[in-house]
Amino acid sequence: MLTVVLILVILGCCLIVWFRRNNNEEPPALNGYFPLIGHAHLLIGAGNIHLWIYLKEIAYECLNAGGVMSIFHGPKTVYCVADPDDFLTVADTCLQKDCFNEFAKPWLGDGLATSDLTTWKEHRKLLDPAFSQAFTDGFLTVFNKQARRLVKELEVKAGKGTFDHFVYTRKNALETTFFTVFGEDFNDKSFLINIYQQKMDQMLNILVERFKKPWLHCDYIYRWSALRKQQDDCMKILLNISNTVLKKKKAVYLNNGKNQNIKKETNGPKFKAFIDLLLELAIEKDAFNDEEIREHVDTLMFGGHDTVASVLMYTILLVGSYSGVQKKILEELQSIFGDSNRDVTRADLSQLVYLEAVINESMRIYPIMPISTRRLDRDVQLKNCTLKKGRTCLLFIFGVNRHPMWGPDAEKFKPERWLGSTTPDCPTAIAGFGVGRRVCIGKSYSMMSLKTTLAHVLRRYRVSGNHSQMVAKIDVSLKPVSGHHVKIDSRVQ
Ligand code: HEM
Ligand SMILES: *[C@@H]1O[C@H](CO)[C@@H](O)[C@H](O)[C@H]1NC(C)=O
Ligand SMILES: *[C@@H]1O[C@H](CO)[C@@H](O)[C@H](O)[C@H]1NC(C)=O
Ligand SMILES: *[C@@H]1O[C@H](CO)[C@@H](O)[C@H](O)[C@H]1NC(C)=O
Ligand SMILES: *[C@@H]1O[C@H](CO)[C@@H](O)[C@H](O)[C@H]1NC(C)=O
Repeated sequence: MLTVVLILVILGCCLIVWFRRNNNEEPPALNGYFPLIGHAHLLIGAGNIHLWIYLKEIAYECLNAGGVMSIFHGPKTVYCVADPDDFLTVADTCLQKDCFNEFAKPWLGDGLATSDLTTWKEHRKLLDPAFSQAFTDGFLTVFNKQARRLVKELEVKAGKGTFDHFVYTRKNALETTFFTVFGEDFNDKSFLINIYQQKMDQMLNILVERFKKPWLHCDYIYRWSALRKQQDDCMKILLNISNTVLKKKKAVYLNNGKNQNIKKETNGPKFKAFIDLLLELAIEKDAFNDEEIREHVDTLMFGGHDTVASVLMYTILLVGSYSGVQKKILEELQSIFGDSNRDVTRADLSQLVYLEAVINESMRIYPIMPISTRRLDRDVQLKNCTLKKGRTCLLFIFGVNRHPMWGPDAEKFKPERWLGSTTPDCPTAIAGFGVGRRVCIGKSYSMMSLKTTLAHVLRRYRVSGNHSQMVAKIDVSLKPVSGHHVKIDSRVQ
């Protein structure tokens, strides 16, 4: 009897706290919540396909509510921000990531995506030069070489009907990233590439599963779960691969001295792999220990391959769905390359304006990272409300991409909106890489890689597909499930 009374009293107290919490000047709440569990019932048991549909609904509802909203994940209040100005305010006021990034911490440790703020500030400053224009120009040789490889691998599919081009862009992007990060060609190690890809996918699935189950957010409970056991097994293999390469690279570095690590490729600019820069900083300046180097290279591998592969996949699909767009790309390629099959140069990149607009528009339509997160380490004053310290904020990149600033045809794929005066005059318009001080470090690297690859592929093949038939899901990032296949035909015999 006493226990029942006690439980009722506790429950009553919880309810009072719950209702009082919702009465102050908080952003409006998403519809459909219950006391105590909040909106969590909408996530539990939701498949990854449903998760994407649900995220889109939240984004639209948030835009309708003025761009800022609260959702209740179990006992926690989580904010959603889709207003572009407020998005930038939050992104730049609070630099600490949240939830997902915490889950990935055992794997990616103090890599840029998951590190604590003090470490992040220090390391970001050290790594930024590695992504500067001067440095990434050295990658152009690699991007060209890899683009040629992709064109060649696609040959077997030319004129053979629809196929899953994501398989090809993924393998290619993983190789490219492996090359730029580790300075080694992955191509002849297909066994390794398969395992690496498999385990990376599995790791992402584990993170998504954990995210969907609020009780597993608690480390103490998670520690005893079957999911954690899977995570440990998965990580063991991933760490082993990175550590093996790292050990080898370090031995080479110490043997040769830093100068011989800089390979001069034919006549392009100097190419230097990220790991050589990290080793240089570690050995010459004592900036990192071995574990930190491992975490940085894993973060770059993780952040680099899947993202570029997905954007490539969506862009090719979209180009294949709009013949008018494809025609304009071809005209631009013709005006720059004529009938030549030559490599893409630095000068070409700045001339590929229409292609760049296509990539930007593709990332607006299908933002592969639909959400970024921040932990609010202070109260944040927005245009119409204040967000409370200590809570999690979901920055809805997808929401910004559908904001009324894009006009009534915001849903439409229209690269032209990036050209001339029609682009919204807003620093957050290009939200796909995040914004502000914690913007994606690989932004210009990615644009270079995407433009080079697309130039090679699209001047060689005519693509057709239908993106409106695609079913997508959330696997940390936005992934296709079906309907994304394309058909390619050779333009030249
Ligand atoms: C088109 C491809 C890419 C997209 C769409 C993308 C998107 C993003 C986004 C949305 C963020 C989070 C920003 C925020 O929280 O505000 C991010 C962070 C990051 N990205 Fe990318 N990314 C891409 C390619 C790359 C590449 C190629 C690399 C590395 C070679 C990379 C490495 C990183 C790292 C290390 C971070 C964490 C940065 C930090 O917190 O300081 N990304 N990216
Ligand atoms: C936010 O404030 C602005 C100006 O103060 C106002 O025009 C707008 O309607 C407000 N939006 C919402 C959703 O309250
Ligand atoms: C690590 O990988 C190597 C091969 O790359 C293998 O020989 C070794 O047994 C692995 N070690 C562990 C602990 O899995
Ligand atoms: C496309 O986006 C990039 C940033 O990702 C930006 O610098 C560039 O100006 C945009 N291009 C066009 C044509 O709008
Ligand atoms: C693409 O698919 C959509 C939806 O299934 C359909 O309505 C449309 O006609 C298709 N477009 C083409 C060009 O086949």
